[in-house]
Amino acid sequence: MTGILCAMREELDPILEYMNIKEKIKHANNIFYIAEFEGEDIVLAYSKIGKVNASITATIMIEKFGVDKLLFSGVAGGVDEDLKIGDLIIATKTCQHDVDLTVFGYEPGYIPESKVFFECDEDLNNIAQNVAGKLGIKLKDGVIASGDQFVHSKERKEWIKKIFNASAIEMEGGAVGCVCWNEGVPFFMLRAISDTAEEGAGVDFDEFLEESSKISAKFLIEMLKEL
Ligand code: ADE
Repeated sequence: MTGILCAMREELDPILEYMNIKEKIKHANNIFYIAEFEGEDIVLAYSKIGKVNASITATIMIEKFGVDKLLFSGVAGGVDEDLKIGDLIIATKTCQHDVDLTVFGYEPGYIPESKVFFECDEDLNNIAQNVAGKLGIKLKDGVIASGDQFVHSKERKEWIKKIFNASAIEMEGGAVGCVCWNEGVPFFMLRAISDTAEEGAGVDFDEFLEESSKISAKFLIEMLKEL
């Protein structure tokens, strides 16, 4: 079964609008929607913000609902200069920018017996690029870096860009990547830009969360039709 994961209610709601919801299952302080889309059953949920919540929900989707393909849709702070508010990006790989074991000689983001970068599924990314091509939409790809902090500082943003070569920042992708790598499940990470992660990002986020969530949701729906 395909799983669709978001962090926030605002990100999931515009996706649910396209779904024929068959069942709502309460589990682990969350709601999992079983829905039908073009003859296929899908499980959908929003995890709540952050890496821990995203890990819990991704794991439940895989272990309890048998998800064999996990698609994430939501918003992100843009790091690449050519990413403007409302633009779409897919991750080539994700990482955790707030993991710091450098005092032991490890590179930033590295955890022993794990790794810095979690690769997104190439086939899903190719399908996304084909869909974007057909629709005439610009779809950037690059590293998406995650941390349990809303980045609103040019200094922090530039550090993340320099160390991880990140194109966008959010708070879940690295965790979802880690879960999916450990579980052997392919994952796809789609984000629409809501802010540029600098001073003033909080104001932009509040203003564009809904609009950018819809942009990401709409694209995900077009992509689902091709799976
Ligand atoms: N999600 C959207 N914008 C973000 C930012 N600036 N920092 C972290 N997560 C985000």
